[in-house]
Parts: sequence; C-alpha cells; structure tokens
Amino acid sequence: MRLRLGVNIDHVATVRNARGGRLPDPVRAAHLAVAAGADSITAHLREDRRHIRDEDMVRLARELTVPLNFEMGATEEMIALAEVLKPHAACLVPEKRTERTTEGGLDVVGQHDHLVPAIARLVAAGCRVSLFIEPDEAAIAGAARLGVPVVELHTGAWCHAVTDGHGTKAAIELERLRTGARIAFGHGLEVHAGHGLDYDTARELATTPEFVEFNIGHFLMGEAMFTGLEHVIRQMRAAMDEGRAGRE
Ligand code: PXP
Repeated sequence: MRLRLGVNIDHVATVRNARGGRLPDPVRAAHLAVAAGADSITAHLREDRRHIRDEDMVRLARELTVPLNFEMGATEEMIALAEVLKPHAACLVPEKRTERTTEGGLDVVGQHDHLVPAIARLVAAGCRVSLFIEPDEAAIAGAARLGVPVVELHTGAWCHAVTDGHGTKAAIELERLRTGARIAFGHGLEVHAGHGLDYDTARELATTPEFVEFNIGHFLMGEAMFTGLEHVIRQMRAAMDEGRAGRE
C-alpha cells in the first residue's frame, strides 16, 4: 500500500511569529507542499498560539484541496473550533503549556472518560479522529476501546535515540514501533506515525507495511531553509517510496 505523506507546517508559523506580521505565510507553504506531493496538511493549533493561529486554521480549512489534519488538545476551545471548521481529520494530542513540542503520547487509559465526549463531538462534526499514542499495547488497546478509526504512533523516542547514536535503545524503540503497528492493525485501526522523522528514519520505518501515513514537520521545514520546500518534499516522498518498496 502507498504510504501517505502529511506535511506539518507549524514551524513556518514559528518563524513568522518570531518577527510578527504575516510572513512567511504557513498557508503558502501548505499550497507549495501539496504541489510538491504532500497528501495532506497537518497544523497544530496550540492553546498558547505559539505557532499556528486561528486565522491560519480558517484559511487552511477554506483553501486546501487535500485533507486537513487538525492537531489539537482535547479542550472545549479546540473542539468547538473543529465543529465550525470541520477538518477532514482531528488528531488528539496531549498539551501542556510548558512542553516545547508534543513530548509523549496521549494518556488514553487515564483520560478515557474525558475523551469519550470529545471524540463523539468530533465524529459528529464529520472528522476522522486519530489519537497520538505511545507504541504500547495498553495505549493501543485503550485507543481501540475508544472506537476511533486511527492511531498515530509516537516516533519521538526512536528518532531521538537514532540522532543521539544510542544504537541499542534505537533498536528497541524501532521494534516497539513495529510491534505496535502490528497490534494496532490487528485491532482494525489505521496506523499513522510521526514526530522527529527525517529522510533516514522515514525510509526505515516505511518498510513496516502497517503504517499508511507519516506526519512530518520540523525536519522538512529545517531542511527547506537550505534546499527549498519543494525539493525536501520530493526527497522525503522518494525516501518513503524506497522504504516501502523494500530498497533500504
Ligand atoms: N505528529 C504529531 C501528533 C505531532 O504532535 C507532531 C509534532 O507536532 C508531528 C507529528 C510532527 O513532528 P515533527 O515536527 O517532529 O516532524
């Protein structure tokens, strides 16, 4: 099965917000990413609006010709906005004010009762709901119990271990992801992955056939500063296709 590439444009907004004003425009980046081969666009509206802002979400929902994946904490404010914008997908993530990024998966077991009504409202708004979780059996079973169609497995621990050169830990974390993908698939869940992926890790993870979508942002936007956004999207597409074809 072809592996889809979702491009997260949050950090175009991070650069814009560093100076204030309107440039660079994350919606322009979204259009360019789509033209270069992105299958969907992800944007994370955080409680503190540190990168994407409400008006970005409104424009993305109005203008995009590919699915919009609205990443959000399961808060009243975000759910109410999703009910208005009706994005194709809503990915529920943990959100703590002090986090620099989304550092761990959603606590789907402990938060079960809070998530049930949130998910019901998103489903009623027509969103395909995904839960961003650690690749652990308990979390996957908890997500399945919540009745969502999709889980996104957190690749951060693996990617950080690879980047830091911790070979043994990286091997363990990769196996966790592969096993997690199989377990989630066995529960009938569609399996996505994301956080910290680069060309090499995306190529490697693409060899696991249960994954059908990767959501990637920070690496792509960083590389785009040197080689251009269109080029990096094409390179990432090629890396994922190579991995999927088994040509590691
Ligand atoms: N998927 C989810 C659910 C995320 O929270 C993030 C980070 O915002 C990503 C994917 C993308 O991670 P990165 O920006 O490290 O590629």
